[in-house]
Amino acid sequence: MIETNGIRLDVSAAEQFLDTGAIDALAPDVDRVATELRDGTCPGSEYLGWLNLPDAITNEDLAVIEKSAARAREDSEVYVVIGIGGSYLGTRAVLDALGSLDGGPRKGHPEILFAGTGLCSASLNRILSRVIGRNFRLCVVSKSGTTLEPAVAFRTLRAVLLERYGESEAARRITAVTDASRGALRQMADSSGYETFVIPDDVGGRFSVLTPVGLVPLAVAGVDVCALVAGAQAMARACQVTDLRSNPAHLYAATRYALYSKGYTTELMSTFHSDLQTVQEWWKQLFGESEGKGGQGIFPASTVFTTDLHSLGQYIQDGRRDLQETFLCVREAVARLTVPGEGEGGRNLDGLDYLEGRTLDEINWKAYEGTRNAHLAGGVPCTSLEVDTLNPETVGGLLYLFEKAVAVSGRLLGVNPFDQPGVETYKKEMFRLLGKPE
Ligand code: PA5
Repeated sequence: MIETNGIRLDVSAAEQFLDTGAIDALAPDVDRVATELRDGTCPGSEYLGWLNLPDAITNEDLAVIEKSAARAREDSEVYVVIGIGGSYLGTRAVLDALGSLDGGPRKGHPEILFAGTGLCSASLNRILSRVIGRNFRLCVVSKSGTTLEPAVAFRTLRAVLLERYGESEAARRITAVTDASRGALRQMADSSGYETFVIPDDVGGRFSVLTPVGLVPLAVAGVDVCALVAGAQAMARACQVTDLRSNPAHLYAATRYALYSKGYTTELMSTFHSDLQTVQEWWKQLFGESEGKGGQGIFPASTVFTTDLHSLGQYIQDGRRDLQETFLCVREAVARLTVPGEGEGGRNLDGLDYLEGRTLDEINWKAYEGTRNAHLAGGVPCTSLEVDTLNPETVGGLLYLFEKAVAVSGRLLGVNPFDQPGVETYKKEMFRLLGKPE
């Protein structure tokens, strides 16, 4: 078990499914790929900016972001973030994990809405109806500046903004987070005078949550971005340690790779904390897009328990034995609810008196332990990541842990973890059908 700033990784149960010494035997390979990453000699080395990002963010960078956020808080009730994939999921994951979206906006902060995450007209329509009669701003995020989904949403919402505020005030209410010089969005921003933030060239979309991509909207929502970065910094240090058994990212990567080599080709990330559902979505993109290439890759899937125990539980317990499971669990949740007693005259007709006075978190934790025991008995290797409590530091730590792990794990698989050539294929076909000019 490794403990890093409130995050514990335990691979001992998964190890029972491997030959003795299988994980330690990977130490030289992990060392080799970690050195490649550190020295920038691996394939995709032009996209290694994320590796030192937590230390590279300066107080001045954060001050500029906070200033922009303060303006948005002052004049807007709604802040619409427009982006998809890596330009969206990290922001949403952090907000959900910190409970910032559930139950509406934080006091004194605009409500954060997400647009451009698909092409579904019903979703965009809902966003349009939420900005009616409310002061709003747009934050459009696109590294390439040319992705169809956010571009369509931006055009649609921009028209509403223009109609509401007129040209110069509308331009003042748009923030563009994009490439320093390339892409249609950069051209629009420069010609219309939008506020802009730059996505560094050497940071790919799915690794970009700790750049302005995530930090700008998170600051608007009232997240302590300094603490988020500090959590990532602390984890970055822990993930530099050379001893495999003491480095959480390396140990996690080696374990899942060893299991993959034994035929456990799907990794299920399971949580008992529904606020972590978008962290799971972010993790799926990070791992799926980084590893799934050249006929290789662990398929990343996710379940939220106990809900999914009542749908996928049967399969996990008893279906095809190619699953490995990683539990992402939270020890202490925010709402301290206890099971009430029935008072005098209560007849215990629901049979729940044995739970009276116990917290829901305690019951949920027992559900986690019981499920892990059951899945292990059913032949599913289980790894555990247990977080003391969800706060900006631990969430920042988790983000970095997974980024480092996927880089190591992708290199163990022999792929370039930093490109995504396969994503272009559907786009070509879609644009051909839409008659996009060459
Ligand atoms: O990780 C990635 O590179 C992708 O998921 C992109 O983030 C996503 O396709 C959006 O691209 P862009 O930011 O260029 O609009």
